[in-house]
Amino acid sequence: MLSADSVKVAVRVRAFNQTEKDAGSCCIISEASNNITIWDPRNRNNTKTFTFDLSYWSHSGFVKNEEGILIPDGPTSRYADQRRMFGDLGQGVLNNAWKGYNATLLAYGQTGSGKSYTMVGYGRDRGIIPLTCEELFKAIKQNQEHDKQYQIYFSMLEIYNERVIDLLSKNKQPGGLKVRENPQTGFYVENLKSVPCESYEQIEQLMKEGNKKRSTASTNINATSSRSHMIITIRFKQVFLKEHLTKQSDINLVDLAGSERQKSSGSEADHLREGTAINLSLTTLGNVISALAEIAMGRKVLHVPYRNSTLTKLLQSALGGNSKTMMIATVSPADICYEETLATLRYAERTKNIQNKAVINENPTERLLQVLKAENARLRSKITKITNTGQRVEEETKELRRSLAENELQMAEILTTWEQRLEVARKEWEQQYLTVTQEQHMIQLFPYLSNVNADPQLSAFVKHFIQDGETVVGQSGSFPQAIVIKGFGITDKHATITNRDSKVTLEPHGQAKVTLNGVLVLTKVQLRHLDRVILGSNSTYLYVGYPCEHNSEDLTKYDYDFFQSELAAVEGFDRDALGLTCRNNRKVDPSVLAVFHDYIRVKPMVAEVNQISEELNKNLLFELEVKNLALADSRGHDLIKEVTVKVTNKVTHQVWVWSRAKFVNRKFIMEDMYQHFVDGENISVDRESDPFWDPIEAVHLGTAYVWLQSLNYCIALEEHVEFHNSQGIEEAILQMNLVPCTTTGQPLGEDEILIDPTELLDQRLDFQVQIIQCLGIKWLKQNSKRGIQIWYRVLNHPYPFHTQPVWNTVNARIDQVLQFTVKSVSQELLNYLQNHALVLDLWGLQEGCAEMASSSGDIEITDEGSIVIDYVSPQLPSSSRVEMGNDQLSELSVKLSKLEQEIELLRDVNRTLSKENVTLKGTLQRMTSDASRPEEKSFHQMNIQAFGCRGTPKASYEVEFAKALKTFYQSMNRVRSQLLGLRRHRPPDEDDVEMLRIYLDKQTQVIKDFGDCLESCTNTLKNDVSLIVKKKRERTLCSSMTK
Ligand SMILES: Nc1ncnc2c1ncn2[C@@H]1O[C@H](COP(=O)(O)OP(=O)(O)OP(=O)(O)O)[C@@H](O)[C@H]1O
Ligand SMILES: [Mg+2]
Repeated sequence: MLSADSVKVAVRVRAFNQTEKDAGSCCIISEASNNITIWDPRNRNNTKTFTFDLSYWSHSGFVKNEEGILIPDGPTSRYADQRRMFGDLGQGVLNNAWKGYNATLLAYGQTGSGKSYTMVGYGRDRGIIPLTCEELFKAIKQNQEHDKQYQIYFSMLEIYNERVIDLLSKNKQPGGLKVRENPQTGFYVENLKSVPCESYEQIEQLMKEGNKKRSTASTNINATSSRSHMIITIRFKQVFLKEHLTKQSDINLVDLAGSERQKSSGSEADHLREGTAINLSLTTLGNVISALAEIAMGRKVLHVPYRNSTLTKLLQSALGGNSKTMMIATVSPADICYEETLATLRYAERTKNIQNKAVINENPTERLLQVLKAENARLRSKITKITNTGQRVEEETKELRRSLAENELQMAEILTTWEQRLEVARKEWEQQYLTVTQEQHMIQLFPYLSNVNADPQLSAFVKHFIQDGETVVGQSGSFPQAIVIKGFGITDKHATITNRDSKVTLEPHGQAKVTLNGVLVLTKVQLRHLDRVILGSNSTYLYVGYPCEHNSEDLTKYDYDFFQSELAAVEGFDRDALGLTCRNNRKVDPSVLAVFHDYIRVKPMVAEVNQISEELNKNLLFELEVKNLALADSRGHDLIKEVTVKVTNKVTHQVWVWSRAKFVNRKFIMEDMYQHFVDGENISVDRESDPFWDPIEAVHLGTAYVWLQSLNYCIALEEHVEFHNSQGIEEAILQMNLVPCTTTGQPLGEDEILIDPTELLDQRLDFQVQIIQCLGIKWLKQNSKRGIQIWYRVLNHPYPFHTQPVWNTVNARIDQVLQFTVKSVSQELLNYLQNHALVLDLWGLQEGCAEMASSSGDIEITDEGSIVIDYVSPQLPSSSRVEMGNDQLSELSVKLSKLEQEIELLRDVNRTLSKENVTLKGTLQRMTSDASRPEEKSFHQMNIQAFGCRGTPKASYEVEFAKALKTFYQSMNRVRSQLLGLRRHRPPDEDDVEMLRIYLDKQTQVIKDFGDCLESCTNTLKNDVSLIVKKKRERTLCSSMTK
């Protein structure tokens, strides 16, 4: 029976997780009758609605019952619990299986969106897989017939880094299992353990075993289901004994790897990205789905890339083939996950279109045997023929022989009775039950270390019991009482745990790394119930004390993030350091929160990579940094923070800076390489494929800001500014000038200072950027064989400008002068100059590094050799508000903006004075000139003339005012720099009280200086202006008296 039907797609919206709650997230999804509507958190009007076959609201309206299961909180609640998910999806799978169809259920979604919760569940709150298995056995019990036999086989595998790992096999499988292709049945995993089961309890136990194996990956790397795909296959056979007929259904239940966001600045491309396996399977799955969706819409597709990844090979029949398939897309409704959730919904929408052709798998057993026999006879004769020709026998017959062996195996399988199989399995079960009972018994008697995995699904599967006496923890098990841990950075004899008189102590050996509750342990320490223990780089355990010490505490609270946050906090990196604490109930900045989470997630990965690098003798040091603690855009607003990894070659001192995405990608390839190394394989690769290799590049050292405001007033600026690195630390001092000039490059004099910038409107503006020298460059202090180069952008000109590289000197003389011309000043440009800075980037050059790419576009040059800048007003994002680090700084910022308003008022006063001046000048001219007086000019025109014809004096009070303004803007530049510095000044490790005291004293002093400076700027300006006004009044009075 053939039935063409499309893949059914369901969407489940989960509850907020702790991170989202901490961030004060808003829900951006609504659900109604299978429609899911999502809106852009930045623009509520930008909504998208998707329609699916089924949709589930598991976001709100639930409570936890006494068994720990989440259920609707009342009769009106629309909360979709695990039972309901099973009822709709699991039951559907079972119905199809009973009919003899293959059935597949895939869970797709972003990391942490609830795939494992939906498919497997947590603890008592069981998901679709356990519920489906339980219901299957229940149904079998109810449908017993004397001439019908039911057979259930269970297998569980994981695809990690494209390798297939049998989660039920105890054998080591270096390199993983092979995926082979059978011309009739398609791809399958060779030698995958398939366990005959008689009860649900057996399946439950198998899943536990599988998860245990998953949590202790052979690579020693902290495995996480986020990056691996798990496929559980239940083969359900109904054997009709009388009819010699078998109805068979393969039920594939797939918990896919998280569709991890690959947020990257986009500025760098990793040459290793293309060949990367990190998500090869997931990417290929996407491509397969897209191709199939195209086909379904009647478009021509030449090739569906099933063969490109392990996962798609194994799912070939589920997608576009012989299977009734459903996909459950899990999503987070939080505003901070908008992009990922939208991507998931789009993915799910595409999947809806795929058409499958499921057939009932009904086979007369006898006929199957006959077919296999005939096929084998054909293969044998073919082999004989080829052998007789005597040419290239080996190669050609190899594949035929393999098919032959395979068929024989299949025949043997058919001939082996269910009873015989059960007999073998029962022996294994007995052994396993013994282990389980033993473990349950031990829990009642001893304290233990319980594993904590980055993936909550894989936590608490491993229990190391601490019996009386001394137990040695380490890689080697050759001690009378030992706990063997094959983790990174774990020595043979790593630590000793002593249990005497119910008191448990832990003592590290030699240099072995042990951390307890985030703190490095150097001597013997006592363990207390719920202590957090990290052995080596990343073997993470919760110490669970004697049963009498247990309360009804929730152990899941101590998850991987808890450990890592604790570790980061002890090392001085906590939420406060990022300005993340809520002050005055202000909402935590979600982007900062995201960095915090990135930091604690990437930190253990960096430790692992350092360990791999050490074991493979790569001589590289990896360090985690937070970029943009000190960096700002041209308005002085903080840029989005990002975690980056600094890589230093310990021998050559070369430095690279990798984005988080690049690091994670590289780590994945390193793990693969390490796995080969552990398996004793050759790991030499050419450098282009070596994840530890990268071409030598220039490194961004720091940024300096020179405010452009003074250009509005034609005031020359002579500056010593600091280059600050991404940690907020000074890297070098830059001496440079920003000089308004004539078209020929003559600096404008003081008497040409403008009071009202609008006088520049529609005029030509020329100015020079004079970069004189860079002093005290730390990059060169560390290694004198290096160099530097400065790059900067002028206004919003598309191409950056740069200085010549200077090598081998701590104080680099540069002496570069570039002149820029704005042909016609607009109001937008004046506004821009008022609020923006020239941003200069200091780049560190190192031996052998490639030259930094220079601008290649057309640059217009004036006759005088000046570079033309056409200022185009950019579309500024609306969210350009500065978030202040703390209240004191906010106050100062408010003061600063008030001051700017005051200046605007003063400018108004000046405009009035200028107008008066025009009248007065007119009167004066009328009084003094004869009949042939020159043509009258407006004051504005005179001013223009003053520009072209240097030396034409302005009214004396105006010059005075200009001078006052110059002093003011020079000081304001200092004030702004101080404010930037203040915002980025990070407190030291809070445990160090002395340092904290020094910091506070310094901070108080800097704030005081800042306040004083601000005050004195305003006062000087006010005094100067009132003096000028006074003088002006006296003169007006005087002139009216002489009239
Ligand atoms: N519908 C839900 N209701 C309540 N809690 C949920 C729900 N879905 C997920 N969670 C919780 O969210 C957390 C992450 O869920 P889960 O482990 O299922 O994510 P995942 O999609 O499997 O992520 P990964 O890709 O990392 O494996 C878990 O603590 C889980 O209990
Ligand atoms: Mg998961």
